[in-house]
Parts: sequence; C-alpha cells; structure tokens
Amino acid sequence: MALKVGIVGMGGIGNLHASCYKNDALAELVAVCDVVREKADKAAEKFGVKAYYSLRDMLANEELDFVDVTTSGYENGSWHYEPAMEALAAGKHVLCEKPLSNDIAEAREMVRYAAARQLYLGCNLNHYFTPTAEKAMQYINEGRVGEMIYLLFKMGFHGGEETYKFNKSPRFNQPYAHMKAFLTHPFSVMRFFCGDITHVQCFAKRPGFRQSAGDLLLSVNSVHVQFANGTIGYLLSQRGDCVWGLGGWWSCELAGTKGTFCIENCLEKLTYWPAPKPGVKYPLGEGPEPEVTNTGLKDFNLTFPTRIHAFLEDVTNKVSPELLRSSGRDALATLEYIQAAIDSYENGGALVRPHPLPPIHGDPLTERI
Ligand SMILES: NC(=O)c1ccc[n+]([C@@H]2O[C@H](COP(=O)([O-])OP(=O)(O)OC[C@H]3O[C@@H](n4cnc5c(N)ncnc54)[C@H](O)[C@@H]3O)[C@@H](O)[C@H]2O)c1
Repeated sequence: MALKVGIVGMGGIGNLHASCYKNDALAELVAVCDVVREKADKAAEKFGVKAYYSLRDMLANEELDFVDVTTSGYENGSWHYEPAMEALAAGKHVLCEKPLSNDIAEAREMVRYAAARQLYLGCNLNHYFTPTAEKAMQYINEGRVGEMIYLLFKMGFHGGEETYKFNKSPRFNQPYAHMKAFLTHPFSVMRFFCGDITHVQCFAKRPGFRQSAGDLLLSVNSVHVQFANGTIGYLLSQRGDCVWGLGGWWSCELAGTKGTFCIENCLEKLTYWPAPKPGVKYPLGEGPEPEVTNTGLKDFNLTFPTRIHAFLEDVTNKVSPELLRSSGRDALATLEYIQAAIDSYENGGALVRPHPLPPIHGDPLTERI
C-alpha cells in the first residue's frame, strides 16, 4: 500500500519533492504545509491535496506514514530541526532535506532521537542515486578498482568576479554557509565509495572581490582527508568564484591498484581506465583503452525521484534501520566532517579527527547467525 506523506516547506525543493511523490506508485501525497499561506495554498492547488499552515495541524488532522521536511533557514538548515523533531515525537518517520541541521548538536540529537523512537530518519543525499554512481560501485564490487589509492573530488558552481552577486541575507552571509549547506553533498559521495573519514585538514579562502564587498563567506574550501580504509582523499569546492575546468559541476576520480574511474558532471559521464597488464608497453601517459559510459543525462533534478523512490522502497520494505539508504546517520557523518574541516581551518589547517558517529548495534531479527 502506498505510504501517506505530508511535506513541510513548499519552496522550490518542497514542490520538486511533491511532484516526485505524485509520480511514484509507492507514495500518496496527502497534504502540504508552509507557514507562508500563499505557498501552501498554491502547492495544494497544484497537487490536488490539502494545505496546512502549521505542522501541528497537519499532524493532528492527517494519518501520515512519514513527513518530508523541505524547509531551509540559516545556512540552508536551521529550520529542519524543529519540524523533524515534532514529526518524530508524533511517531512519524522523517525524510529531511540536507543538511540535517546547520548546528551539529541539533543534528546529533535528531539522529539519537529517531533511533530512540525506532523511527526512520532519512536525508536527501541525492547525488549518488545516479546511474553513474551505481555503475562505479559495480566496478568496485567486481574488484576492478582494487585497493583504493586516492579519491579526488571537485564540486561547486561556475562563476567569476564579473558575475558575482553579494548575497547579503543573514541566512547566507556567514563564514561557513557554503561549507555547512553544501559540502554535505561531496562528502556523502566520497563516503559512499570509500567509507568513513578518520582525519581532516582544511584551508579556506575568501577571494579579494568578496573581501572588498564585505562578504563574509569562505567560499573556497580545500580539504585533505584520510579514510578508515587508508585511502587518501582531496575535496576542492568553490561557490561561483571561478570557472571549473574539466568535469562539469562536479567530478569524482577514484583510483585503485586495478583501475581508476571518474564520474563527470554528476550523472552524465563515467570513464573507467583499467590498470596496465604486464608485458604490454605503453607510451608515457598512455594505457589500455578506457570504458566510457555516456548517459546523455544532464538534468541534476533527475536525482530527486530516484533518491526519493529509494526511501519509499526502504520504508515500505521495513528495512533494518542501519540499512536505510542515505540515513540520518549517513547525513550526520557528512556534518561531522564539515565540523572537523571548520575546526581545522580555525586552527590554521591542523589535523582534526572527526567526532565519532553513534555506534551501530545491529538488528537481532534481520541479522541472526
Ligand atoms: N538535495 C538537493 O540537491 C538540494 C538542492 C537545493 C536545496 N536543497 C535543500 O532544500 C531545502 C529547501 O530549499 P528551498 O530552496 O526550497 O528553500 P525555500 O526557503 O525556498 O523554502 C523553504 C520553505 O519552508 C517554509 N518553512 C520554513 N519553516 C517552516 C515551518 N516550520 N513550517 C512550515 N513551513 C516552513 C518557508 O516558508 C519556505 O516557503 C534546503 O534545506 C536546501 O538546503 C537540497
């Protein structure tokens, strides 16, 4: 039976989620909610559902299986905690937009509370719900990457000083707004491929044109990491300060002893280069022919229905909580890395060990030996 969902926060992203539910047989969108009445009314009319102006009313009047939190706020996350906690307190599963919160203590509490209530808390870490990431993971699982050596990630927005616009809103004119609102995405993909990160070092910068404008945003972030499996990683992110070279708006190259892959432009292209075979000589800089997958897909919004469908499948199938894809705990991991990067930056690039994640206890019903 389709899961009944109500959405809180009917901005652009709430509306995008609503159309995903309307097109997914596993979901039944029953209500939308926004504190701004016109936004709730407009979305309710568009999607043919009831409008609410407070989550409390929506919870009191609708039989929901889960609540989708698509509010935003300071650093795009300060309005997530309150509705997510209210929905969990009412016994509802929650899918929350990223970042879980812009405040690490709140994010930890959300994950703790959902686990204590035995409810699912998922996060919309949508960037690896793509055909390119799926195929790249297949290369890893088939042993075609081998022992992982390095991961290089570049992600952010095209721009330059001529197109720069000072975002003076207190919601975004904060030193760490880009890091807190955005780095959750690249870290989620890095962790998807290589697992937990144990060490972080960060440098950050505000280009001259931002400094002269009085902009506080540390828009360029250079983060060096080590994963628990020994892989060395590097993340470079910037927010419209310059033009990216190769790779589209994000690219991820993961190299191993058996082969290397690179995803370009999120869901558009995947290239796999097998490692050279013994006895075959190649000119310097050349090797065996790469395998190239061009999906022809460029529309990033295609990641939303895929990720949302995965959440619907997991909740419908009542998966064990630690198997929930893109869980609250996964989202918390990315925030712990961001917090570690901020701590490192504030200490001149010092080495920081991210705060440990809550332990996984396992499920005696699904994990009997
Ligand atoms: N996963 C992705 O790829 C992706 C992409 C873009 C944005 N996002 C995230 O999506 C979220 C929403 O982004 P947006 O651009 O649509 O934001 P927005 O500010 O346009 O919309 C948020 C809406 O929530 C409403 N709201 C806030 N608090 C509320 C409450 N307590 N109850 C009811 N309504 C409330 C606001 O009135 C507003 O209409 C952000 O957290 C952002 O980080 C995710």
